[in-house]
Parts: sequence; C-alpha cells; structure tokens
Amino acid sequence: MTLILRTDPLNPSRELLIQAARILLNKGIVAFPTETVYGLGAVIYYEDAVEKIFKAKMRPPDNPLIIHISTLDMLEEVALNIPEDAYSLINRFWPGPLTLILPRNPRVPKIVTGGLDTIAVRMPGHPTALELINVVGYPIAAPSANLSGRPSPVTAEHVIRDLMGRIDAIIDAGETFFGVESTVVNILEDPPTLLRPGAYPVEEIEKVLGRKIAIPDFARGLKYSEVALAPGMKYRHYSPEAKLILVESVTNDYSVIANKIIEAARDISVSTNSDICIVSSIETSSYYRKLEKVKAVLIIGSRRNLYEVAKNLFKILRDVDNIGCKTVFVEGFPETGIGLAVMNRLRKASSSIIRV
Ligand code: TXA
Ligand code: MG
Repeated sequence: MTLILRTDPLNPSRELLIQAARILLNKGIVAFPTETVYGLGAVIYYEDAVEKIFKAKMRPPDNPLIIHISTLDMLEEVALNIPEDAYSLINRFWPGPLTLILPRNPRVPKIVTGGLDTIAVRMPGHPTALELINVVGYPIAAPSANLSGRPSPVTAEHVIRDLMGRIDAIIDAGETFFGVESTVVNILEDPPTLLRPGAYPVEEIEKVLGRKIAIPDFARGLKYSEVALAPGMKYRHYSPEAKLILVESVTNDYSVIANKIIEAARDISVSTNSDICIVSSIETSSYYRKLEKVKAVLIIGSRRNLYEVAKNLFKILRDVDNIGCKTVFVEGFPETGIGLAVMNRLRKASSSIIRV
C-alpha cells in the first residue's frame, strides 16, 4: 500500500515530515518533491531499501543514484578529497539543482553508485526536500520517481500513475518548480564535463568556475548507444508511447520549423490515418490552423521564456499519451540557458529528428 501525504510545499507540516522520516528510517522508500522533479528516496545506508528503489522503478542496477544532502557535514560523510572548484560551485549554487560528481567515501554502499568509486551529490532547494532530509538526519539516495524510461514526474499524480502500490509513501506538495532535473557536472575531469544539462544553465556554472565546461555530444542528447558514454546515459529516456518526431533548426528560425512540421504532418495524414498531435510554442501556434487533420496542438510555452517550456515539458510528454496521439511533432528550441536541458530531453525522447 502506498500512503499519500499532502502538504504545503513552502511550509511543510512537521508532523507529516516526521511520519515520512519514520518510514525511511524503517527502511521504506518515499517519493518526495524537489525543485526539479519528484525523487524516490531511501536512506543511503540501508542497502535493502536502495534495492527496493531499483525494483520499484525497474531501473537497471548499473544506473547510479544521486545522493541528496541537507548540510555540508553530510557532504563530508559521503565524499572524499573535495576539490576547491567544488566548493566555489557549492557556495554559489547550493541549495539548488546542481549535482556534482565527487570521489566516493567508502562508507557509501556501492549499490547507490552502481559500483562506481564516485558519487553524484546535491543539496536540493525545495523546502520540503531539505526539511525531510534534516528530519531523517542521513543522506538520501533518490532517482527521479518515475518508471524507468518514462518522463520524469513533476506532480504527485505522475508519481501515482507510475508507482502506486510499488512504494511506501508519496509526499504530495503540488507541482515542482523547474520541471527538468538537475545539471550534472563532473569537475574531477579537466576540463570539467557536463554529464547532463539541467535546471541551472551551464553558462552560469562556467562563470563561477572561470573556465569552459566540455559538452559532449551525449549531453546534447545527440548520441546514445549500447556503449556506456557516461553512467546512465546509454538508456533511452523520457519517451511517450507516441512516436515523437523532433523538428529542429540550427538557425532557430521558427517559421521554417513550423512549415516543415506542416509539410511532414500532411505527408503522414495522406498516407495513414494516424492521430497526429503537435507540440507548439505560443509564437507558432497559429501556423497550424492551416492543417486540416490534427488531433491536438499542445502549447508548451513561449520561445521568449525557456523556463516556461522546461516546466511544461514532461507534463506535455505524458499528456500526449493521455490524449491518444500516435505521432507527435515537437518544435525544437534554442540550446541556450535551460534550452540545452529541454533539447537533451526532447532528443532522447524522439524516435526521429528532422533538421531544417
Ligand atoms: O533533479 C534531479 O537530479 C532529480 C531529483 C530527484 O533530485 N534526480 C534525478 O536522478 O534526476 P536520476 O536517477 O533520474 O538521474 C541520475 C543520473 C544518472 O542517470 C547518472 O546519469 C548520473 O545521475 N549519475 C549518478 N551518479 C553518477 C556517477 N557517480 N557518475 C556519473 N554520473 C552519475
Ligand atoms: Mg531519471
């Protein structure tokens, strides 16, 4: 049975947090909101509980988990030899959606890191998450609280959809703030490497470091293969059931993108009677009035506010299936700021990419 605990996100109820903490301290697993997406947590030292996370999500065991902490004392509990650069980033960005790769303190069970000698760690900025970790008193391992491969959950309803009956409790504190996961940076490498673009723009992180961060192709979502490019990066992700066709342009000329979608959608509706949907920006939505046979045009936000686009992204990827779209065309966005995280998720979710 899965207990649902409802609370205000900014002023989480103390009693409710104690109730959730008891479950975690009894080796249970609890979904909770963070500022990015909902996480599915277990105390890092309870290997049985961490094992339950992998089972509940149906997650491959070599895909490591992020450790969530609420104090810098906890950081020293889980990491060794923390470089100066890490502290510069921590001072500027924590609590918040930045995950750092650091050497693993041997007391962290290897099941948490998928056998690696490094950890991924962050201090979440969501008051409910921070307070929960404080009440528990131990670091909490938490991947996103979705079934493996599905879009990450940004509401408790998404968690319920994927994991009801498979986990001990869900703290429902409404919608998360950013809607995409944390930025993951490996500062142990020279130059530092972006492993996953996320809620904090890489440009801001470079400013604090005073040097460039390497952005490999897989961090742009451009390549994934059976070969492990970085832990967890070899898996297809975020995919709706519908066939997702991403249409992107290096020039970011959205009229070109919209016209290509219209052309490709017409081709499909001529050859089959598949249910076509379009994920559009506010700026381009009127273009699609020209199309006769579309099931739905879903508006993801404005091109002038990529934070809005990021926040609606995973919700829309789930809506596409709820509506019954069979093919969905999605517009590409600029890869600047949080746009890089949006494009990484869209490319990983896509069945094919059209470049114009
Ligand atoms: O915003 C977030 O980061 C959310 C919330 C819940 O905090 N969590 C999250 O966790 O997105 P998850 O499990 O969905 O993604 C964790 C990813 C792994 O897939 C892997 O790519 C990377 O973090 N990771 C974890 N440990 C690592 C390590 N030691 N070395 C390299 N990458 C690691
Ligand atoms: Mg995930």
